[in-house]
Amino acid sequence: MSTKLVVTAMLVLLVITLPVFGQESVSAKLSFTPPMGWNSWNKFTCNVSEDMIREMADAMVKSGMKDAGYQYVVIDDCWQVTRDENGNIVADPQRFPSGIKALADYVHSLGLKFGIYSDAGSKTCAGRPGGLGHEYQDAVQYAAWGVDYLKYDWCNTTTQDAKASYANIRAALDAAGRPIVLSICEWGKAQPWLWGKEVGGNLWRTTGDIQDRWSGKKEWKPGDCCSYGVVDIVDAEADLYSYAGPGHWNDPDMLEVGNGGMTDVEYRSHFSLWAILAAPLIAGNDLRSMRAEIRDILTNKEVIAINQDPLGMQGRRVSKSGDREVWAKQLQDGTRAVVLLNRGAAAQNMVVTWGEIGYPDHLNASVRDLWEHKEVAKATGKFSSTVPSHGVVMVTVRP
Ligand code: GLA
Repeated sequence: MSTKLVVTAMLVLLVITLPVFGQESVSAKLSFTPPMGWNSWNKFTCNVSEDMIREMADAMVKSGMKDAGYQYVVIDDCWQVTRDENGNIVADPQRFPSGIKALADYVHSLGLKFGIYSDAGSKTCAGRPGGLGHEYQDAVQYAAWGVDYLKYDWCNTTTQDAKASYANIRAALDAAGRPIVLSICEWGKAQPWLWGKEVGGNLWRTTGDIQDRWSGKKEWKPGDCCSYGVVDIVDAEADLYSYAGPGHWNDPDMLEVGNGGMTDVEYRSHFSLWAILAAPLIAGNDLRSMRAEIRDILTNKEVIAINQDPLGMQGRRVSKSGDREVWAKQLQDGTRAVVLLNRGAAAQNMVVTWGEIGYPDHLNASVRDLWEHKEVAKATGKFSSTVPSHGVVMVTVRP
């Protein structure tokens, strides 16, 4: 073979394989830290409209949430009503009269990003048209609208293989050429933590839906399991830490902070736990009318910094004794973030030892309370504090 032929063959090979390499990098570079944003489902379920979404995007800016790092404004189920004669997905013309593109443009004009929802099966969970058989067509449409984030649900998937289905939508999104975060919403049934990263998922739900309560697992209807309280979801996440990292996160579902079913102490615990779990922080309350106490929880920059730490480690439960738990997360600079969680019915004293967080006993360290916003101790070997019922004390321990 002549040199010219070999060079030509190599060039052809390069041109053929380039898009493949390019595609891989599209998803891998997204969500280097856990995604932050707002989603319509927890508060509004099917009651979505362009006016409400615009107002929520405005409120995200005005409330200081954008400054605190929240980025994605995501419409969940029920924005779509049918497909047209060419199979294109059609938004509800009554609720979204200006169309999805105009709404995405508006969200972008505020310096925010725009997300949308569909389903890997024939229909969404609310019975709207699903994505099955239209993956590439929908991906092109989403890219043209300016979608930055796709939550992809798992209802009405009958015998579909989960891994193959999510690989398919990721390939379709990449082929459409726009970087789009892929939020796998498969409820943990086929253990997506084992394959979510490989198929280009940026986050994957690990359980059924969260409900706005502290604890308790409840069937939706007989035989249809389940919705979960905050601490039940935390238990389900506890052993999954090794699967999370930059670009690919375990998702214990969206936040219920501010939706009214828990006390402010419990909401603070919910937020602290999601932060230390390196969970996506997707608010789900009405940002237009939240109380100052709720805004202060959602915008606590010291707690958010733990969640967004670039090392991307998911925190672990390092000790459990009855209803007392210690959770710890190593940060990029070697500091440890610690949550003392009291699941009990009364306030109690709790302690974290340096041994539990991987420090030598003789180490002298500064302890900073991330809710009090102050240094609380110079401590050697351990730190202890009184923790309210269903509450947390969240600190950093810095040598
Ligand atoms: C499922 C998901 C929820 C929500 C609804 C919408 O239950 O897990 O997060 O998206 O569907 O119908």
